[in-house]
Amino acid sequence: MCGIVACIINDKAAPVLLECIRRLEYRGYDSVGLATLSGDIYIKKGEGKINDVHKRLDLTDIPGNMGIAHVRWATHGLPTSVNAHPQTDCKNRIALVHNGIIENYRELKTQLKDEGHIFTSETDTEILAHLIEKYMKIGNSLEVATRLATKDIKGSYAIAVISKDEPNKIIGVRKESPLIVGAGEKESFIASDVPAILKHTKNVIYLNDNEMVILSPDGVIIKDIDGNTLKNNINIIEWTSDMAEKGGFKHFMLKEIHEQPDVIKNTLMDFPEIKKVVAKFSKFKRICFIACGTSFHASIIGKYLFETLLGIPTDVMLSSEFIFSQGALDKNTLVILITQSGETADTLKALKIANKKSETLAIVNVLGSTITREADHIIYTRAGPEIGVASTKTYVSQLVSIYMLVIAMSENNKLLTELHKVPDYIKQVLEDEDHIIEIAKKYKDANDFFFIGRGFSYPTALEGALKLKEITYIHGEGYAAGELKHGPIALIDDNIPVLAIVPPGKSHDKTLSNIEEVKARGAKIISVGSSTDEILKSESHDIMGLEEDISEILSPIPYVVPLQLLSYYISVERGIDPDKPKNLAKCVTVE
Ligand code: F6R
Repeated sequence: MCGIVACIINDKAAPVLLECIRRLEYRGYDSVGLATLSGDIYIKKGEGKINDVHKRLDLTDIPGNMGIAHVRWATHGLPTSVNAHPQTDCKNRIALVHNGIIENYRELKTQLKDEGHIFTSETDTEILAHLIEKYMKIGNSLEVATRLATKDIKGSYAIAVISKDEPNKIIGVRKESPLIVGAGEKESFIASDVPAILKHTKNVIYLNDNEMVILSPDGVIIKDIDGNTLKNNINIIEWTSDMAEKGGFKHFMLKEIHEQPDVIKNTLMDFPEIKKVVAKFSKFKRICFIACGTSFHASIIGKYLFETLLGIPTDVMLSSEFIFSQGALDKNTLVILITQSGETADTLKALKIANKKSETLAIVNVLGSTITREADHIIYTRAGPEIGVASTKTYVSQLVSIYMLVIAMSENNKLLTELHKVPDYIKQVLEDEDHIIEIAKKYKDANDFFFIGRGFSYPTALEGALKLKEITYIHGEGYAAGELKHGPIALIDDNIPVLAIVPPGKSHDKTLSNIEEVKARGAKIISVGSSTDEILKSESHDIMGLEEDISEILSPIPYVVPLQLLSYYISVERGIDPDKPKNLAKCVTVE
């Protein structure tokens, strides 16, 4: 969580820092702050979203051609102006931005206070500024002092630091929190993520844990934490800066929903690569998926696919639970970790455990992210940067990658041919947008929703409920349709809309029976199904219909799209910004 940016450029830095940090606002939006260096350190920071703080304070009104910036997702201390980053030392000679958590901050704070340091915030970050101050005071350079300070702390961090005593220098260090370096022509950047700096350079160096970068007007130098200079491994990024713009849509989320047909086509192009990866997989007797949130829902579909099409026993674990129960991992098990960001702390922790006992495969969207350096095998999804906090296009790209994986292992070419038709099915859903807007208007004031589905539609129900909760703040409960009668049906009454996912196929008739059960208790039925399904139509108060029939096994991909749109439009109707829902951050880098 939190986003950080730093730059040394030939122009005024503050407007560029502001533009770059805006692109990281998906990582946190409790508060924002900038510090520039021009003889003195100049700081502007405040509580709230970037636009609001900028309106109040004019964040660009500080001099200098170098500086650091931060958007915060609060962990230690309330989201106030005082706790906003940059944080400084006692004399405001050092300013620092940080993403991560300092676990031993209490003892370090007590120690530093005993040594006479005065603290102003409740953040763990401020410790680092004082530690660097302490080491500079005894004659160390900013670089050495930063190195010594990081050796004192336990926890995760990506930091960028400047000091009035060493103008023309920015130091960045990374341990278990993402940090990339942009090596432009006469301009250098540090950022939490590539989209922040795409407008300025496509030359990116991915820092590894315990590496540091020194930015100066002469360029960038990468060192290890002991001060040894390392080679600059520059990667040329294919993503364009347009991909991180709204492109005429009101919100990133809507743009990303609309991009899904193209995302699927791009992801499908990697089938030959996937075939190469699976050539090594015939030895595995068991699969274990590990993921969080939306990626976890993709994993459940993975389980159903592996068991149905390949007969391979498959477990699905939440990353955060994996440390408590790991099942029978061994060398015959392939552990598949799904993560769009490649930086989710719980998933990275699970990977470390899994790596000791089994081979690991990561399905990931972000090139160069931490997981890509630690898993044995990698499959990249081709969704491009996803800025909206709620995952949409990365979810369908994960699904497509899992389908391709199973198709390659089972050599099921018929399914591959049908998978290629999915982008067209989704286009048809997108053409039905006005109808979905009407449904959103009708149900926007409900307090609770149920989402039900069976078999391949069960994970879709979970995902529909998660989208609703995240961006509309309406309580949504995702349930296996057959499970309702084992308890939750007690909650059903005429105030609760039930969203039923009913593709033609094996689960169809049984889900219809469940619809009858909840209707008999007063529920309003919104269904997703085939538009030629007359029985479903007659049972539903509203239907989001798909023109073409698709096999049930592939239905999770197009059937999630009406649910994404419904949540999006309910969110807009309720006056919420779906790109930045409260309390959430795009990338969860704390456990
Ligand atoms: C929901 C959402 C989250 C993520 C989860 C895992 O819309 O985006 O639930 O799916 O935080 O993130 P990744 O896939 O980056 O590991």
